Amino acid sequence: MNGHYAIAIDGPSGAGKSSLARRVAARFGFLYVDTGAIYRTVGLAAYRRGIDRRDAAAIEALLPELDIQMAYNAQGEQRMLLNGEDVSEAIRLPEISICASDVSALPEVRAFLLEMQRKMAREHDVIMDGRDIGTVVLPQAELKIFLTASAEARAERRMKELAAKGVKTDFEAVLRDIRYRDEQDSARAAAPLRQAEDAVLVDTTALDFAQSEERLCALVREKLGVEEKA
Ligand code: DC
Repeated sequence: MNGHYAIAIDGPSGAGKSSLARRVAARFGFLYVDTGAIYRTVGLAAYRRGIDRRDAAAIEALLPELDIQMAYNAQGEQRMLLNGEDVSEAIRLPEISICASDVSALPEVRAFLLEMQRKMAREHDVIMDGRDIGTVVLPQAELKIFLTASAEARAERRMKELAAKGVKTDFEAVLRDIRYRDEQDSARAAAPLRQAEDAVLVDTTALDFAQSEERLCALVREKLGVEEKA
């Protein structure tokens, strides 16, 4: 370790990684780093330029033009800046989820974003979530969690999340998107989604949010030997 603790949470989309990691981070005073947001920012840039999602050469050519910054506001929320513009809301649209999954399959995109993620972990106690945090980005993390749930349970949760933001969509469409991303994120050659050998598997299909949160907090206490902030 480098003087800071690192917790890696990997798993498929919609397993509750970000909401849970945010809660656990707040309870233990860690910084929550959402790495999916960085891939989404690249996906948004490609989408806005009208680049074919599968045109690897065009996406690679775009990278040098992208200034991607992660910033934290006064409430401690992570914001994503793309060439100076706050795109934190724009990257959440369902069509950008698909673009993010597509661009994240490219090794050049992953290499472009790797150092930015590692730098956060060198400078802070982090809980970082993504697909390859325990396997590639932070293989030395003190605690690795592989968080999963059935595709149907994840689609239901994603529907509720989108509805709360006023985005209307139907269950079948959300389930289709989730399955598409599961397949693509797991089947790709570059840093595919997989459970690290030393990761603890947490399946939240039958757990509610509070139960999942308690399970993760218990793991943090047990593995890191740290206590919650008062
Ligand atoms: O976690 P998310 O749904 O916001 O991530 C969006 C996409 O980015 C996801 O389909 C896969 C990709 N991703 C990745 O490849 N590696 C990460 N560490 C995080 C996300």
